Amino acid sequence: MPQLAGRFRTLPEYPLATIPQKKRELIGRGVDVIDLGAGDADLAPPPAAVEALAKAAHTPAMNRYGFGLGLVAYREAIAAWMQKRFGLRVNPLTEIVPLIGSKEGISHLALAYLEPGRIGIIPEPGYNAYQGGAMLASGQPYRYALRPRTNFLVDLDDIPEETLRQTRVLYLNYPNNPTAAIAPRDYLERVVARCRELDILLVYDNAYSELAFDGYVPPSIFEIDGARDVAIEFHSLSKTYNMTGWRCGWSVASPEISSVLTKVKSFVDTGAFMAVQAAGVAALESYDSFVPANVATFRARRDAAVEAFTAAGFSCESPRATMYLWIPLPEHITSGEFAQFLIEEEGVVVMPGSNFGVGGEGYFRVSFVTSPERIREAAVRAGRVLTRLSVGA
Ligand SMILES: Cc1ncc(COP(=O)(O)O)c(C=O)c1O
Repeated sequence: MPQLAGRFRTLPEYPLATIPQKKRELIGRGVDVIDLGAGDADLAPPPAAVEALAKAAHTPAMNRYGFGLGLVAYREAIAAWMQKRFGLRVNPLTEIVPLIGSKEGISHLALAYLEPGRIGIIPEPGYNAYQGGAMLASGQPYRYALRPRTNFLVDLDDIPEETLRQTRVLYLNYPNNPTAAIAPRDYLERVVARCRELDILLVYDNAYSELAFDGYVPPSIFEIDGARDVAIEFHSLSKTYNMTGWRCGWSVASPEISSVLTKVKSFVDTGAFMAVQAAGVAALESYDSFVPANVATFRARRDAAVEAFTAAGFSCESPRATMYLWIPLPEHITSGEFAQFLIEEEGVVVMPGSNFGVGGEGYFRVSFVTSPERIREAAVRAGRVLTRLSVGA
C-alpha cells in the first residue's frame, strides 16, 4: 500500500460521516428516527431560486465552466446584499470570491497561509473545516477551548505570546456553531486590533448572520474599523435560505486577500455550477419576502426546543441566534455515551460535544431541523435517557 502523508494520518474522522449509515440501519429495523444532528433543515428553499435554477439549467451558456469569475450577476447581487444588510461597499469583481459552499473556501484558504510551524488558532468546540483545512495545509492547529467562563469567546490574552507570534490564522465564528454564542461589538474591536498588531489573518465565519432572534442583528466583521486590512468573511446561502445541498457561498475581503483565495481555487476547482449562481441571485433578491418568515419558523422551533428540553430535565438557555441548542450534561455522563444511548435506545440523533473538539466534552448539540412536534418528542426521549444514565451513576 502506498504510504499516506503524515498530515492525513493525523486527521480525525469527520463527525457527521458515519451518521447517515447508522440512520439507514435503524430505519431498516423499523425505528422511528428523529434526526437533530446536522444543521440541515427540512425546509424548502425560496421558490424563486428553484425557478431560476431550472431556467438556467436549460440555458446552454450556464452549463459551461464558471471559472473563478463565475456569473457576474451573482457577484453584483452579493455586493448589493452586503450594502443593504451591513451598509458596506464591496467591489463585486475584486473583493468577492464566489464559493462552492463556504466550507470549501474556508478549508482551501489555509493552503495559502499555513505551513509547518505556522499556527492556526482553532476554537473548539467548532466547525470542523477549520482544523481540517489547517491540518491538510500542514499547519499547526492550536486548539482553544471555548467555555462558559469567556462566554464562549476566544480570549487572545489566554494564549501565550510566543504562540501568538507564530500564528498566521485565527478562525472565529459568531453567531457560533455549536455553542450559539454571539460576539459583542467591543470584543470584535479588540480582536481586530490584536490581529492587526500581530499580523494575523482573521477568518470570520458568518454562516449564521441571518438566523437571529429577539431583535438581535449580527454584524459583519467589516463593520469594525481596521478589519479590511486583516479579515476575510465567509457567507453562505445554506442556512439562511435552506439551500445546504446547493453549495453556494462567498467570501468578502480586500482585493489582496481575495486574490490569494482565487489563486488557490484556480488550481482545485473551476467554479460553482453557474445555474446555482443564478439561483443565488434569485435567493438574495428574495430576501425580504423569504428570510423573515423563515427565521420565524426557526424561532418557533427554538422556543419549542428550549421548553421541551428544559421540561425533560436539561438546563438550556434560549439562544439569540443560530439553529442550535448547546446543552450541558451532568458531570458523570460523557457526551459520546449520551449520544450513543440516545440513538441506540430511542432513535434520536444529536451531536455529542466531543465531536466538536477539546472544549466540547460535557455538552451535546440539538439542531432545529425538524418540526416543533418532532423536537418535543425527541426531548421526551432524551429525558428518558438522561434519567436512565443518572440512575445508573
Ligand atoms: C459555522 C459554519 N460555517 C460554515 C458552514 C458551511 O456552510 P456551507 O454549506 O456554506 O459550506 C457551516 C455548516 O454547517 C457552519 O456551521
